Amino acid sequence: MTEIGHLRAALGAADTDRIVYDLTGIESRYRELGDELPGVRVRFAMKACPVDEVLTGFADLGAGFDAASPGEIRQALRTGAEPERVHYGNTVKSDRDIATAYRLGITTYATDSAEDVRAIARHAPGSRVFCRVSTSGEGAVWGLTGKYGSDDPVAVLDLARSLGLVPAGLSLHVGSQQMTESGWRDGLAAVTGVVRTLLRRGIRPDHVNLGGGLPASGHPGLTPPTGEIFAAIRSGMRQLREAAGGDLDFVVEPGRFLVADHGVVRAEVARLTVRREAWLYLTCGRFNGLYEGDRLPYRLEFPTHPAGPTVPAIVAGPSCDSDDVLAGGVPVPVPAGLASGDPVWIHTAGAYATSYTTAGFNGFAPLPCHTVRAERVRPIDVHDWPAIGSLESIAYTKGGLSEGPEALRSRAQPETSFVLDTGDRVGGYLLALPYPEFRYPDLHRPEESAVRSSNLHLHDIVIDPGLRGRGWGKRLVRHLTETARSLSYRRISLVSVDGTAGFWSSRGFRPHPQVPLPGAYGPDAVYMSHELR
Ligand SMILES: Cc1ncc(COP(=O)(O)O)c(C=O)c1O
Repeated sequence: MTEIGHLRAALGAADTDRIVYDLTGIESRYRELGDELPGVRVRFAMKACPVDEVLTGFADLGAGFDAASPGEIRQALRTGAEPERVHYGNTVKSDRDIATAYRLGITTYATDSAEDVRAIARHAPGSRVFCRVSTSGEGAVWGLTGKYGSDDPVAVLDLARSLGLVPAGLSLHVGSQQMTESGWRDGLAAVTGVVRTLLRRGIRPDHVNLGGGLPASGHPGLTPPTGEIFAAIRSGMRQLREAAGGDLDFVVEPGRFLVADHGVVRAEVARLTVRREAWLYLTCGRFNGLYEGDRLPYRLEFPTHPAGPTVPAIVAGPSCDSDDVLAGGVPVPVPAGLASGDPVWIHTAGAYATSYTTAGFNGFAPLPCHTVRAERVRPIDVHDWPAIGSLESIAYTKGGLSEGPEALRSRAQPETSFVLDTGDRVGGYLLALPYPEFRYPDLHRPEESAVRSSNLHLHDIVIDPGLRGRGWGKRLVRHLTETARSLSYRRISLVSVDGTAGFWSSRGFRPHPQVPLPGAYGPDAVYMSHELR
């Protein structure tokens, strides 16, 4: 089943309203962000999707959290993330909330005013603070101006320093669903100016928090220039680093970008009626999950009416409130034959849907939340070996490199060997075992005894030919690298065969041509290794 297929299957199988999150999609979006902004630490803005499974997925991937209250801090810590990976990102907080956060171990706080800085100094002494710089919000669907941001961040951080806090950084928020690269360019230029002034005052920030604002891409008529936006951010980061004389870390707090396109609401048609114009009333509206529907257009899909005549209709939620209208009341084409009870899938509805919902206005309950995942990487189970054996044989028999099931099994160290489970079968595997540096298994013989080494040897990785080209090899290697780090291995080695050296080089592996390899590994085999830092 394809990645989208499993989501559509879950939507199709649903017979009551719900929101369904595709954890695989969210994870690939997270990886995409890492590729666009390498080295930037992610602090997911929890308010966008405070769903435990989603948060745990982010924590497992190494992300931290931007929390806005003690309630969110507690939920973030429940994922297993350490307090250092969580910051209190709300500039609005009471004395009690600051004290609670401090008790929970939080040591980094957003601020934008002298009053808030004094309260942090009193209730979270010695903490790190970063000051939010005000921005224009131009180009964004929600500007987020006025309520947040300091016009004099230098004075705010100066005061923080004098009160024993660490003036650790600056932040900005260019506005949510920011549709322009100029919003970022201007915002980051303003922050660069502040960094220069801070340095003149002898304050050296260690990081800049780029905030949220990265857009969802699936709203009809609201296609953002995502590539240009990332280019503008990277360029702004370069300028900031230059201004800071080199040493500067970056944090980003995306909400919408990570989850919006991977959450779909399954609702139903309440009634298609024609009064002065056609109105399509749905069972889900602004008060039970689609709060942002006043400004955001959604792509609606009617799975039981894939084709046929349409009528332009204003789409609205089920409640008695006249504000419960979607897409600003602009009519959209909907199937003319819709009947009460027909399902509707509302796409790109994943951001803020579970958080901005009433407790049940007019008796319409908040949407229940479900999650699905296409595949997962998991440890090898004894029942997986026949599938692993046949994948190995398909991959290597032709080139004469197949080593057979017994040898293969002997090289599967349980903690560092995995299968890719697609949900209905084994779609790939990776075997790694501790092995002395610059040595490698003898393909003609099974391993006889376990070796202790800080070097982990990636002996074999195979992806089912029908599943190649979808990033699963990369994911397995990433999974291994993360596991190796957590088990304190210092290095990963491998023997690249079949002309795969380019793939490994791009994953940070360097060749060691001086290491001689026997013919059994094939003519173009190269020993390579990657130091873990
Ligand atoms: C401080 C802060 N960071 C991050 C976000 C996430 O913003 P977005 O969903 O636009 O990425 C918000 C949202 O309002 C915010 O207030």
